[in-house]
Amino acid sequence: MQADAPILFFDSGVGGLSVLQPARALLPRAAIVYAADSAGYPYGKRSEAEIASRVPALLGRLVERFRPRLAVIACNTASTIALDHVRAALDLPVVGTVPAIKPAAEQSRTRVIGVLGTEATVRQPYVDDLASRFAADCTIVPHGSPDLVDLAEAKLAGDTISVADVRAAAQPMFNAAGDSRIDTVVLACTHFPLLADELREAWPDVAYVDGGAGIARRIAFLTRKQPWPAQLPLGIAVFTAPPRATLLGALDRFGLDDVRVL
Ligand code: DGL
Repeated sequence: MQADAPILFFDSGVGGLSVLQPARALLPRAAIVYAADSAGYPYGKRSEAEIASRVPALLGRLVERFRPRLAVIACNTASTIALDHVRAALDLPVVGTVPAIKPAAEQSRTRVIGVLGTEATVRQPYVDDLASRFAADCTIVPHGSPDLVDLAEAKLAGDTISVADVRAAAQPMFNAAGDSRIDTVVLACTHFPLLADELREAWPDVAYVDGGAGIARRIAFLTRKQPWPAQLPLGIAVFTAPPRATLLGALDRFGLDDVRVL
């Protein structure tokens, strides 16, 4: 294993940065390639067939180009639909993103859990399977919100977004719970932890759970005993369509200073 072999993070847009952040905290010297399929964004509105063919093909190109030691599908939509296809196509460890229903069920007191994801994620049988395995005694209230994905992209690109916008996008989930009180919300889209401040302000009594920290621990475990570069390497961000210029500041804050278009 080459010390400078990077870890590849993959998402449709900026959502995977919410996974990159805790991973970087655990592995500060890891070389990073962050890939955003901005030409395919938003995944949440795409069909299963499109995602199942697009994601493994694109990851194949990225792996050939950057020779990562490990790939992280930092996207719930791509993981719940295409993880098996990607693992079958690539000859390297692949870490996926699973909606954090299990930890949510471990902490919910009201036993009513909201699952906030993309439209594509919340319709996956994979999510029902997690719910029946780990939250059988809970009421699960799923909600797919393309608006929240767009709000996270806008926020990172420096646009002003309001708590009212975030509240309007997630309110239908709370309405759907009727008289039952949702006390725990699974952020089942990697874009949504980027809106954690706004969500907390909108619903301060709710606990928000995402998979970022667990994924970071998994990456650290899989790469234990591997060598890392002596010097802090540059972080590379690769987009499939040119990003907005105003996004560069946020990428820099996440340690991604070399921005390219694939
Ligand atoms: N970040 C993504 C997820 O975790 C996808 C958002 C989108 O492109 O719709 O599901």
